[in-house]
Amino acid sequence: MSRLGTESAFEVLARAKALERQGKEIVHLEIGEPDFDTPVHIREAAKRALDGGATHYGPAAGLPELREAIAKDVGATRQLPVEPDEIVVTPGAKPIMYFVITALVDPGDEVIYPNPGFPIYESVINFVGGKGVPIPLREESGFGFDMELFEQKVSAKTRLIVLNSPQNPTGGVLEKEQLGRIAEAARTYRIPVLADEIYKSFLYDGEFASITAFPGMKDLTIILDGFSKSYAMTGWRLGYGVMPRGLADHVARLMVNSNSCTAAFTQWAGIAALQGDQQPVHAMVAEFKRRRDIIVDGLNALPGVSCRSPRGAFYVFPNVKKLGRPSAEVASQLLNDAGVAVLGGSAFGEYGEGYLRLSYANSEANIRKALERMRPVLARLAG
Ligand SMILES: Cc1ncc(COP(=O)(O)O)c(C=O)c1O
Repeated sequence: MSRLGTESAFEVLARAKALERQGKEIVHLEIGEPDFDTPVHIREAAKRALDGGATHYGPAAGLPELREAIAKDVGATRQLPVEPDEIVVTPGAKPIMYFVITALVDPGDEVIYPNPGFPIYESVINFVGGKGVPIPLREESGFGFDMELFEQKVSAKTRLIVLNSPQNPTGGVLEKEQLGRIAEAARTYRIPVLADEIYKSFLYDGEFASITAFPGMKDLTIILDGFSKSYAMTGWRLGYGVMPRGLADHVARLMVNSNSCTAAFTQWAGIAALQGDQQPVHAMVAEFKRRRDIIVDGLNALPGVSCRSPRGAFYVFPNVKKLGRPSAEVASQLLNDAGVAVLGGSAFGEYGEGYLRLSYANSEANIRKALERMRPVLARLAG
């Protein structure tokens, strides 16, 4: 258990809630979830499903109707022919990470992953006894992969490459050219790629690019995606992986051994999400783009802070190196003295030190309030 890490967003959330119970008012910019409600037609579909009897166990890999709908959707969004038996539905997308790393990585196997990155990759790699090989994402290059280092580190010993684009926590997006070079290395050594595409809808300029578009990559890629972010369904727990059939069988067996299956009524809601009106998704993304610009401008006007405008997801990753203190300490002071909950960049790995992560999935009024309250605390730290 000592090798298993955690996701500190949940810990900071708990600390912020404890302060709220003491009567403090906190602005929450720590947790990565849309502040929007799940669109009405999706909620209605879940209610209809419950009333219609969708209260029983279902197939471990997911309802055939949902796997069919996902196959169509993935086919359309990645121009990729996908069959339902290449899909496993899980309670949230996170289990796909856990299951795929468990299924593929033996003790001592090397796994390449982004750093700073979603902390669960590193945690599960360590848990199964794998050897994590972090690839730094550099601010200077828009938080893309350090390709030279990647090409030095990738080898026949690499058992898995983890990618995440658009990315948590930096908002960075992998360029097509970078994806092409990663694909080439993956093909050369026959390395599976776990492509975490959960933020694919949150792209503010340019078009979404999946590594599956490169020749030969469909057979080597596991797409991780789900409903939590795009359809504001974090609490429903609904996600999926798209992978070669043989691996899908193993992942389904891991489902049988852990969850049995994903709740049926949430899966019917997922079908309504994929097949229904996509306007709420577009409206949410447009609103996030507006907020991104507000928070980036606001942060750049604060003492000791500089912030790039991220191209995707709903996070900013401002540089606070000028303050000369550990980012976790800056985050703690902002929580205790400004009542603003943010995360220190080191929560996302060693190369996240010197940065903060703020989620702008919060109202414009709250974002402005947070920026205002942060100013005196940062001025004190900078002075
Ligand atoms: C990069 C990334 N992948 C996966 C997930 C997990 O999504 P879910 O809530 O569907 O398990 C998250 C959630 O924060 C994330 O940021």
